[in-house]
Amino acid sequence: MLNEIEIPEELIQKLRSAKSILFFTGAGISAESGIDTFRGKGGLWNKMSAQELASFDGFMKNPNLVWEWYQYRRKIISETEPNAGHKTIAEFEKHFNQVTVVTQNVDNLHKRAGSTNILELHGNIERNFCLKCKAFYDVEKFIDANEVPKCEKCGGMIRPDVVWFGEMLPKGIFEEAERIAINADICFIVGTSAVVYPAAYIPLSAKEAGATLVEINIELTNISDQVDFSILGKSGEVLPKIFSFLGL
Ligand code: APR
Repeated sequence: MLNEIEIPEELIQKLRSAKSILFFTGAGISAESGIDTFRGKGGLWNKMSAQELASFDGFMKNPNLVWEWYQYRRKIISETEPNAGHKTIAEFEKHFNQVTVVTQNVDNLHKRAGSTNILELHGNIERNFCLKCKAFYDVEKFIDANEVPKCEKCGGMIRPDVVWFGEMLPKGIFEEAERIAINADICFIVGTSAVVYPAAYIPLSAKEAGATLVEINIELTNISDQVDFSILGKSGEVLPKIFSFLGL
């Protein structure tokens, strides 16, 4: 598989002169760590209802079902490790002026891989907060709760700090991601179907501002016709190969 992946020399040249690099990532970068993606083959939303499990209405209709679902995902994520894709992005950060990860993932694997400059557009599954008083709780606090826990301060229901369908993105994060995108020289689009908005505007804003777009995915996506380089392959194999060509 590795030998078949072609890395365009022109991309390597562009990378060598790049100052600001943006990695826009989705569930696909964590697939090789054993975490299911949402769409495509074996995608979660093919088997389960996003409306029931990842919406505010779904939570209010059946809080314990949704809570159980996130406890189940947390357990899977806690038993996985960042893969070579996450680790290579963290390595880029050590060799380039400005490297930013703008991720749709809530799995915290970029941070665990060593990246420090991360914008989480859809929140983080390792945090909870109270619906009523907004008090935050670390995931450890309710790690054994099988049913929705209550806030110690006000008795309100506790929910995961992730963005559900139809909800606003965390305040200021999207705006900061946009600012990074319009100043990026190169924007990598890694392991995302690029169908969920407003997140999917980020690479388009980068393109509009003149950035070079590089897509890494195992298949073509909605955004493939807009990119400058489309590299078909697993991100855990493609990213280390690109980095190795830089000879850093
Ligand atoms: N390497 C690269 N790409 C991969 C790999 C891999 N090893 N495995 C799968 N992919 C690609 C798939 O081909 C698909 O295009 O990753 C993409 C995953 O797309 P989605 O499952 O739609 O995930 P994502 O784009 O992150 O979803 C966006 O939707 O469900 C919501 O809030 C959730 O953040 C999520 C958002």
